[in-house]
Amino acid sequence: MPTPKVDMRVALIAAGLLLASAPSWSAETPAAPASSVMESSFPAPTAAQLQAGAKVAQTCAACHGLDGNATSTEFPKLAGQHADYLVKQLHDYRVAKGANHPARINAIMNGMAATLTDAQIRDVALYYSRQTFKPGVTFADKKDLKLGRSIWMAGIPDRAVPACVSCHGPGGAGMPSRYPRIGGQWQGYLETELQMFRNDRRTNSPEMHDIASRMTDQQIAAVADYAAGLRAHYGMPR
Ligand code: HEC
Ligand code: HEC
Repeated sequence: MPTPKVDMRVALIAAGLLLASAPSWSAETPAAPASSVMESSFPAPTAAQLQAGAKVAQTCAACHGLDGNATSTEFPKLAGQHADYLVKQLHDYRVAKGANHPARINAIMNGMAATLTDAQIRDVALYYSRQTFKPGVTFADKKDLKLGRSIWMAGIPDRAVPACVSCHGPGGAGMPSRYPRIGGQWQGYLETELQMFRNDRRTNSPEMHDIASRMTDQQIAAVADYAAGLRAHYGMPR
């Protein structure tokens, strides 16, 4: 794998952000054993798994891009996303035994996931998790970003919304076995997903349902804007 180039400017901004937010980040970080949260539950993939994954990814490329960096804002980026999270989502797009609808409803992805075997899901997830993520941009205005940043860093205390940073991390890189990378993802996608959690179209996360259902449309849009602009790939664990 090529070593990602470190953009010094981004690293410095990120370090400043980290320092500025140190008290809330350290105070609210769940005290979990590093080994279970920080590391992927998948061992390093074999060359054969990556090859098989790349083959499956050809059928996803039209929307997600061959390397998982979707160029259209209609499709989420998958590059550099944690394998555990991708595997869970692909299973959640299928109908679980005894359920009458998938935990995550989306006509395209329900159809795609139904055609994949469990082994293909694992391999394609491993493949995307090893691709270099290209962070996005945000087009938000300053006022919107200010609100978004305050929600990200401190939550919304009077609505009991926790700080996003406590699970998704200061750069939005998440934590491999638990929390998805959302920094640098498309704004529109993040906003849609928060609304789906709130409206119970996406029922695969009670914690995110709880969080989103306490937020207004304006708060959702603002925090999605802020997250979209985060540069998530500086030195955070993958
Ligand atoms: C025709 C376009 C299209 C194709 C082809 C497609 N996807 Fe998707 N994918 C989407 C859309 C749209 C979404 C967002 C759906 C939603 O809101 O739940 C999505 C979402 C996902 C997600 C969830 C991402 C996240 O951050 O939670 C995963 C994982 C995924 N796709 C994997 C795949 C894989 C693997 C393939 C190939 C086997 C594939 N997709 C093929 C359109 C597509
Ligand atoms: C207690 C931990 C926790 C907190 C706090 C939290 N999240 Fe999450 N978030 C999660 C988990 C776990 C998932 C993955 C859910 C799943 O399995 O689909 C997730 C998923 C998401 C997704 C979907 C990502 C995708 O690729 O589809 C978005 C968007 C999101 N969170 C935004 C936020 C925002 C914004 C905040 C702050 C207001 C926040 N989260 C706070 C745990 C958390």
